Amino acid sequence: MLTALNQDAASPLRRPRKVDGIIELVGNTPLVEVRRTTRGLSRGVRVLAKLEGFNPGGSVKDRPALGMIRDAIDNGRLKPGRTIIDSTSGNTGIAIAMIGAALGYPVRLVVPANVSEERKNIIRLFGAEIVYSDPLEGSDGAIRLCRKIVAEDPEGYFKPDQYFNPMNSQAHYETTGPEIYRQTEGRVTHFVAGIGTGGTVMGAGRFLKERDPRIRVIAAEPDSEMHGLEGLKHMASSIVPGIYHEEELDLKIPVSTEDAYEMVYRLSQEEGLLVGQSSGAALVAAMDVARRLTHGTVVAVFPDFGARYMTTNLWTTWKESLDVGNVDFSI
Ligand SMILES: Cc1ncc(COP(=O)(O)O)c(C=O)c1O
Repeated sequence: MLTALNQDAASPLRRPRKVDGIIELVGNTPLVEVRRTTRGLSRGVRVLAKLEGFNPGGSVKDRPALGMIRDAIDNGRLKPGRTIIDSTSGNTGIAIAMIGAALGYPVRLVVPANVSEERKNIIRLFGAEIVYSDPLEGSDGAIRLCRKIVAEDPEGYFKPDQYFNPMNSQAHYETTGPEIYRQTEGRVTHFVAGIGTGGTVMGAGRFLKERDPRIRVIAAEPDSEMHGLEGLKHMASSIVPGIYHEEELDLKIPVSTEDAYEMVYRLSQEEGLLVGQSSGAALVAAMDVARRLTHGTVVAVFPDFGARYMTTNLWTTWKESLDVGNVDFSI
């Protein structure tokens, strides 16, 4: 089955060898069957992962960032001389920084000071400027500080505003959803994605439901306010994004940080798939759904790869658990 899927026109193996610029490589990510970590499911059930780490900026966020920036250029809100600014927990910042560099626009990003070192460095390497917000206020603190900076000089900036810009979910409606439908040859029965801004689950979910109203759209959400799932939001304790419409979901599954981390470790060792914590969360929710089925094709979005999180709790916790074996013989 994997071979068949790889022959799909959307496979990176089929990407054109020469493109006019890096942003042409956004989207068309591969869909990979998760085989061993899903052991024990009914024979008629498959779980497939959409590997968004294959985007040139390394995450699912390349899609909405490009959609919002293209739209702003087209309607005149982004013109030469303006700086692109936004509040972002990381991946959107990297995507905006990459696209800004490719298209020649300066970029300024407001991020909570505790975002991983890897992410900050990548943003800086694309030439973007970082403004730090209070880490204790999380992504909501970054949203508030960014609004304040723009209010002081509204003409100087274009703010994509991923939490409220309909082009965020529209990018997934136009790309992620159609790719999944095509890659599964219309067999997808359940679509699972984590909620950050809600752009992925809303946009791709809407497309899939329009194609086949029987397709179930499921969101994976951190199970508490204090969680270690970078990129995801616990809605009850957050500013609810304007593009997020909970009533369009069929189900929302709470996922604990521990279960998501455990799934990440298993994926790396059982599948050779080194992904970020929100991918682990998506697979925990996808497995919850898949266990209830006798037949079906469950597609989960894996937003990025794990190398971006080497200095975060995800991998430091794992390393500590290995070190438990180093017994101490001293007296
Ligand atoms: C690592 C990661 N996973 C998941 C998401 C959630 O995606 P969305 O904003 O489309 O809900 C994000 C978005 O910020 C992210 O950075």
